[in-house]
Amino acid sequence: MTTISLALDTPELAQAYEHGSDRQFNHGKLLIEALGVRRGQRVLDVGAGTGRLAAHVAEIVGPEGSVVAIDPLPLRVDIARQKTRSNLATAVGRAEDLSAFATGSFDVAYLNSVLHWLNEGQKQRAISEAARVLKPGGKLGFSTGSREKPHQLEPIQRKVLAEIGKEAQGTLPYKLTVDEVRTLLDRAGFIVDSLEIRTFVDHAADVDEILRHSGSSSFGNHLSHLSPEEKREVRDRLARELEARRTPQGIRLERHLIFAIAHTAGN
Ligand SMILES: C[S@@+](CC[C@H](N)C(=O)[O-])C[C@H]1O[C@@H](n2cnc3c(N)ncnc32)[C@H](O)[C@@H]1O
Repeated sequence: MTTISLALDTPELAQAYEHGSDRQFNHGKLLIEALGVRRGQRVLDVGAGTGRLAAHVAEIVGPEGSVVAIDPLPLRVDIARQKTRSNLATAVGRAEDLSAFATGSFDVAYLNSVLHWLNEGQKQRAISEAARVLKPGGKLGFSTGSREKPHQLEPIQRKVLAEIGKEAQGTLPYKLTVDEVRTLLDRAGFIVDSLEIRTFVDHAADVDEILRHSGSSSFGNHLSHLSPEEKREVRDRLARELEARRTPQGIRLERHLIFAIAHTAGN
């Protein structure tokens, strides 16, 4: 059974995420756009990582608004804290426990590429906590891995791991379907505004870039069940499989994310 550890992060992985997370940053900007975040709003970024998107949102809400960015990984919160802005606060914290925040205290809350790291119970608590801290009519948005349309890397990686007698672990283990997202939101009392799967195409320079990204965005969980020798073997086998997909722009891989926007009752 897959379990996700929050104890595998390192300063190197946190820095690699800060400098190599353009994918998350770019689809995060689309999420913020869909949420219609505007000047003067009070916003909660849950699972903010190194705070790149939170700093962008702080610019949008301006000095009359504010952003609070929380993440359970202290090394990533340290990097977020260096993005000093008078209207941006950072703290170590988890999605499923927002007890540090008063009921009805935010206009908007969002989780960008976070929910797929939470198990079923944690997910429901996270969404219910978001409902509690939002004002009446407040908006929730999230992007999360789609279970009905997995990342193109997944079957390739599963095949390679099977070849060396290993299971795939730590690759977005708790992805959801659109129907499951709807149930999650309904149970927490949200009214769904939009719910869709969006497809993104990435081009990587080589297999090492792909593995670096997987390692840093999974905070060390990706392939953490393998020995160093097994990791080298998987890297070489993956390189052979992925090179066969090379295009003039690089190694082309599609990924699919569920984008959900919902609001609490009251407005
Ligand atoms: C792929 S990163 C996304 C970071 C950021 N939201 C972004 O857009 O770049 C996933 C983040 O989820 C966070 N995370 C994992 N478990 C969490 C939990 N229980 N509550 C809140 N965040 C969590 C991790 O610490 C990590 O920073």
